[in-house]
Amino acid sequence: MLGSSPVLANVIDFSSGALSEVGEVLLRRVSDLVLLFGDKAAAEVLAEGDNPVVYQVFLPPEREPGRPEALLYATTVIYPGKVGDEYFMTKGHFHVEGECPEVYLGTAGRGMLLLMDRHGRAEAVPMQAGTVVYVPPETAHRTVNVGDAPFVFFAVWPEKAGHDYQSIAAHGFSHRILEEHGRPVMVSNPDWRQP
Ligand SMILES: [Fe+2]
Repeated sequence: MLGSSPVLANVIDFSSGALSEVGEVLLRRVSDLVLLFGDKAAAEVLAEGDNPVVYQVFLPPEREPGRPEALLYATTVIYPGKVGDEYFMTKGHFHVEGECPEVYLGTAGRGMLLLMDRHGRAEAVPMQAGTVVYVPPETAHRTVNVGDAPFVFFAVWPEKAGHDYQSIAAHGFSHRILEEHGRPVMVSNPDWRQP
């Protein structure tokens, strides 16, 4: 056995995101994300009703806790749904260590990876099973389910990257992914302010 942890390999269920060796599962419902959606009134109605699960993150047991050079990975499943016209999405974040990039691989469903630099310039990258996207340094990233089935992806990032959710909670993304005439479109977010 190499190293101190017995877990070297894992098996991903590509359609559900589940891991054979799981350390932690994060679950985010509409009530956790109310302030991130454009239509907060619609989000509150959903949160006070069924309060559906928007996404889950499956993390493996950590192999090298506290080692900055370590690589971490996770699978995420975003369920299909909308708040008003806005698709279910993750919180999104910059990395605390902004120079750290990340790699995403789609495994099921249809999604968009919303990328935004520090000046608010944004790009929405379509993702499906097999799509690999390199998230550049100093780029906030949020994933969105634009299909009618679960959107599942795998991500790998350096341990030292860290997650800065606070700047997104405070300032949002400069653009949103909305459904218009049955299709996903990227529209500018009038509430966004450059930090
Ligand atoms: Fe990240």
